[in-house]
Amino acid sequence: MRVVVTRRLPGDSLQALRARGHETWVYDEPGPIPASLLREEVRSAHGLLAMLTDRVDWALLEDAPSLQVVANYAVGFDNIDLAACHAKGVVVSNTPDVLTNATADLAWALLLASARRIPEGDALTRDGDFTGWDPRMLLGRTVHGATLGIVGAGRIGQAVARRSVGFGMRVLYASPRQWHEGEQNLGASAVSLETLLKESDFVSLHAPLNESTRHLIRKETLSLMKPNAILVNTARGGLICEADLLEALEAGFLLGAALDVFDPEPPSPNSPLLRHPLVTLSPHLGSATVQAREAMADLAVKNILAVLAGEAPPTPVQATLSPRTSGTTTTRR
Ligand code: GLV
Ligand code: GLV
Repeated sequence: MRVVVTRRLPGDSLQALRARGHETWVYDEPGPIPASLLREEVRSAHGLLAMLTDRVDWALLEDAPSLQVVANYAVGFDNIDLAACHAKGVVVSNTPDVLTNATADLAWALLLASARRIPEGDALTRDGDFTGWDPRMLLGRTVHGATLGIVGAGRIGQAVARRSVGFGMRVLYASPRQWHEGEQNLGASAVSLETLLKESDFVSLHAPLNESTRHLIRKETLSLMKPNAILVNTARGGLICEADLLEALEAGFLLGAALDVFDPEPPSPNSPLLRHPLVTLSPHLGSATVQAREAMADLAVKNILAVLAGEAPPTPVQATLSPRTSGTTTTRR
C-alpha cells in the first residue's frame, strides 16, 4: 500500500514500512508540503504521516478514497478535523508519551531562561558589553519556593509539575480532570483558572488547542496575573491572544513571557513580540530532541502499520476528543 510522508524525518523509521511491502512517498523539499501537492499525493494513498503544519480537513479527505489512516507526527492534533476523518472512516493517531519529557524539559528551560534573563545576558556578553561583575546587573527572580501554575494537567503538564520538586515549589493546577497523583505526591492543588492566575509566579500552559481553549489567555485573564509573574507556553500559540499579551507586558500586568509556539506560526518577522525585551523565544522546539523525534517517527509508523494490517493502532485519537465535541474546559471550579 502507499504511504505519504509529508516531511523528511530523523532516523530510519520508514524502513519498517518498506519492510512490510509498503511504498513510501516522502516530500523532501524544505518547508511544509504545499496543500495542492498534498491533495494530489493523498489521492492514491492508504496512509498519511502528517506534520502539525499540514491541514487534514474535508477538502483533503474528499479526494482520498483509499485513505485509511492519518498518523500525526505530534501529540497535538488541532491541525486535523477529527469529525471529517471519523465520517470518512479514517483512523487518526498521534504521538503521546514519547515526547512528554522532552517537552517538559523545554518548558523548564524557558521558565529558567526567562526568570534568570539568560537571553539578555547571552546577548550582552556576545556584544562585548560584559565589562565586569555588577551587583545590580540583570537581576532576575528566584524560582525556588515560588508558586507554579499548571494549566492543563495532562501528561506534559504533569511532567512539568514533577520537575518542580527540586525547586521546592508550591504547585497549583487548573484542568478538566482531577490529578490524584499530583495532589498526593506533590501536594498540588486543583484550582480554577482565575485562582491559578492570581496566585502563580510562573504559569505554564499545557492545554490542547480547541474551541474552548483558544485565547484562554487574553486581556481579562492576563489582568489577573501577578505583576512579577512569568508566562510559559510550549503548547499551542492559539491559547494566547498575542496582541493582548503585548499590551499586558507594556502595562506591567506580568513580568515576562517565554514562548515556544505562536499564532500564526511561524510569527511574522514584523511581530513586535520578536523584539520585546520581556519575551524569551524558541522556535517550536518542545519535542526537538534526537530521542523524542525518532521515537515519534517509530510510533507514527507503528500506527500506520497496524491500521493497514487491519489491527488496532497503539495510540489512536478518539473522535470524541474533537474540538467541536469535547466540551473541554481548562478550569475546575
Ligand atoms: C508538538 O507541538 C506536538 O504537538 O507534538
Ligand atoms: C499533555 O498536555 C498531553 O497532551 O498529554
